[in-house]
Amino acid sequence: MPRIKDQKLADKGRIQIRIAESRMPVLMKIREDMIREKPLIGIRIAACLHVTKETAVLMRTLKAGGAEIALTASNPLSTQDDVAAALVEEGIDVYAWRGESEYEYMENIREALKINPDITMDDGGDITVEAHKLNYANHIIGGTEETTTGIIRIKAMEREGKLKYPVIAVNNARTKYLFDNRYGTGQSTIDGIMRATNILLAGKNVVVAGYGWCGRGIAMRARGMGANVIVTEIDPLKALEAVMDGFRVLPMSEAAEIGDIFITATGNINVIRKEHMEKMRNGAILANSGHFNVEINIKDLEEISVSKERLRENLDEYTLKDGRKIYLLAEGRLVNLAAAEGHPSEVMDMSFANQALSVKYLVENKGKLEQKLYEVPVEIDQTVAKLKLQSMGIRIDEPTKEQLEYMQKWED
Ligand code: ADE
Repeated sequence: MPRIKDQKLADKGRIQIRIAESRMPVLMKIREDMIREKPLIGIRIAACLHVTKETAVLMRTLKAGGAEIALTASNPLSTQDDVAAALVEEGIDVYAWRGESEYEYMENIREALKINPDITMDDGGDITVEAHKLNYANHIIGGTEETTTGIIRIKAMEREGKLKYPVIAVNNARTKYLFDNRYGTGQSTIDGIMRATNILLAGKNVVVAGYGWCGRGIAMRARGMGANVIVTEIDPLKALEAVMDGFRVLPMSEAAEIGDIFITATGNINVIRKEHMEKMRNGAILANSGHFNVEINIKDLEEISVSKERLRENLDEYTLKDGRKIYLLAEGRLVNLAAAEGHPSEVMDMSFANQALSVKYLVENKGKLEQKLYEVPVEIDQTVAKLKLQSMGIRIDEPTKEQLEYMQKWED
């Protein structure tokens, strides 16, 4: 039995899904192929993804290919309840609602696993880890992982010899991270901050923690809105790139004193903590765009505060002992999904095209892959890029015979 907020929201959800489908031409093309070829007949998928309109397009595509699906959320605050209702109406078992507790979140993952999956599809590693803990792994053909954080966890499992089935690192496809992580996170993070606060970005000091592909996207878009962007990093190479991209780079201890808005996108723990909060300006805003709510130390914030008030959805005001106010967005959960709608459909089109084709690949290669983390096959990455360009009406050149030969030579 599915577990969602309210089945009556289905009509609204269907419209949202229709909007997403009109902006996801690559996935829709893959759906046409799935309908024709039915490569997923008899395949049960347990998916742990943000339950959004874009995820719905992916789920409908996999179902069109013949799969039976159980879907659970990859974050307690990211579920779009209307979309969840629309999916249930179509026979996809959803176990998710916005605002579920952490206990309910894990319970829902376990419910989804009861489908006894052939494939796990993950965003953050939770269902993969749980499938291993609850001994579903022996039956599983393979899994996919959507995000950097999940890949770090699955790599650790592989290193310790604990990974019991092959997993494809969807995040590492170039048609994923170069677009989703950069342009998707960049735009949707700013969107989330604006929806939660309606603050003017022009002239503000925006501190971006982490200069991976997500941090780059956020820094680039914040600059585009007129903010003075400061980057913090622990990796010297990334710090150097940020400098040469024209950003000011500072340690967090110094950035803390001048920032108006702080955005974490590191994948690491306690990036903003008490020692930083104590130095912050009155009115500082804290937002997280990393997968887990561990980047801002909320316990520290609570410890140094005398009171907390929810001013409106996704905006909590903390009053410190000396009267200063610090604002926390979306309880420190990923602001782009909790306070906005996640990445726009156009980039999820490519990410989820990689997901769909990776699932098909796992099924076609059943029994041939090792208990390892695999990259997305290059052919899939290339196919997604070509289809995306085609859908945008953009043509590119073909190399001539002479050019192809030239690229094989080394003597002259
Ligand atoms: N991750 C980031 N944005 C997303 C979206 N719109 N749908 C699903 N997963 C996402």
